[in-house]
Amino acid sequence: MVLDHNVTLSNETVVLVWISSANAAAVVEKNFRLVHAPSDYFYLDCGGGEWIGGAVGNSWCDPFKTWTKAYTFDPQANISASQAHLVLGGEQALWAEQSGPENLDPIVWPRAAASAEVFWTGPGGNLSEALPRLHDVAFRLRQRGVKAIQLQPMWCALRAGKCNLDS
Ligand SMILES: *[C@@H]1O[C@H](CO)[C@@H](O)[C@H](O)[C@H]1NC(C)=O
Ligand SMILES: *[C@@H]1O[C@H](CO)[C@@H](O)[C@H](O)[C@H]1NC(C)=O
Ligand SMILES: *[C@@H]1O[C@H](CO)[C@@H](O)[C@H](O)[C@H]1NC(C)=O
Ligand SMILES: *[C@@H]1O[C@H](CO)[C@@H](O)[C@H](O)[C@H]1NC(C)=O
Repeated sequence: MVLDHNVTLSNETVVLVWISSANAAAVVEKNFRLVHAPSDYFYLDCGGGEWIGGAVGNSWCDPFKTWTKAYTFDPQANISASQAHLVLGGEQALWAEQSGPENLDPIVWPRAAASAEVFWTGPGGNLSEALPRLHDVAFRLRQRGVKAIQLQPMWCALRAGKCNLDS
């Protein structure tokens, strides 16, 4: 709406940037505050194939967004220090075309926790060091009956760093 349509909006408008991370810089150029939810980093439902009947193909926002992809997002990328205050935060989106009570837990957890760390702690975290923390989150969720998915084989999850490229 903000970038492709000629509409006049109050400066109190908060813009959700969801189509592409590449649009964030143009939104702050127009002096609007924004919430990041770019489909090229987040969107937990991507990668499940086309949901429109009679069509063979990918989901509109392929590929599946891994926790590592979300973890590498930088909310201030391409945004100057003087515009940084316009970035309010971010959200992980899950749309419901191919999700429901049956797959809610595994499609959300623990991937969503990776993006939570980006927006709470800040970007630029070390993937190898974040992985044991995400395993811990997944273990605690499973203890509480949440069906969080495996990020690695259990052998690796119990031996931090042993399955890493940089170990
Ligand atoms: C956008 O809308 C304004 C106000 O209606 C108008 O003056 C202007 O010419 C429009 N610009 C474009 C590119 O359509
Ligand atoms: C919007 O503009 C008004 C008038 O200039 C200003 O007082 C207000 O602080 C602005 N709000 C935001 C969110 O920038
Ligand atoms: C930042 O800008 C570069 C160069 O235009 C672009 O390749 C990159 O995707 C942008 N990153 C984000 C997160 O907007
Ligand atoms: C990430 O952390 C691992 C383990 O502490 C370390 O070996 C590696 O050098 C770090 N990578 C970067 C890019 O800092």
